[in-house]
Amino acid sequence: MKTYLATKNAGKLGEIRNMLAGSPIDLHTYDGYIDPVEGDDSYVANALLKARALREQLQLAGIHDAVLADDSGIELDALDGGPGVLSARYAGETTPWPQRLETMMSEVRHVPEDRRGARFICVMALITPDGREIVVEGDVRGQITTELRGTNGFGYDPIFYYPPIGKTFGEIPEAEKNELSHRGRAARALLEALAA
Ligand code: IMP
Repeated sequence: MKTYLATKNAGKLGEIRNMLAGSPIDLHTYDGYIDPVEGDDSYVANALLKARALREQLQLAGIHDAVLADDSGIELDALDGGPGVLSARYAGETTPWPQRLETMMSEVRHVPEDRRGARFICVMALITPDGREIVVEGDVRGQITTELRGTNGFGYDPIFYYPPIGKTFGEIPEAEKNELSHRGRAARALLEALAA
């Protein structure tokens, strides 16, 4: 099924492309895609907003294939679940990543280790060519580190420590991250939902 992905984030695109390689979803991007302004309500609302926006933009261009969007974020116990849906804008929309990561690490430095827990969450929304909307979710729990660890991945990966392997997502190859991550879990849920 030819499917256009609603993202301008190269990190996400690469991961989702690899996750869906060999599946019935044949992934494409649309150069003309314009990201809608995300709300601060929920991941589901944002994923659907992006998918519906891309669907509308494609239809105006005479393309009637399926569309896929994801909305994700990181939730810190120390911030009562924040920044959550606002993760992309955490510490300021245009703040460079090193500074954003430093700000997040400073939130947990003063709290005991058992309050450094965090969760990555990803919601994927797929709209089939006939307009059916499928929404799935994946999450993974870990801890925020107090030092940067690793240079792989993107975004918050170098400060997201996953205890079962004793490493951050910045320290593992992409294929391993895709096995463990919120996005990998959401992608597998999507393929199961489609098969059903
Ligand atoms: P959005 O889904 O585009 O709203 O992005 C949410 C924010 O979380 C962005 O700043 C992403 O860089 C970050 N983020 C989402 N998924 C991941 C991930 O797998 N690793 C690290 N950061 C992520």
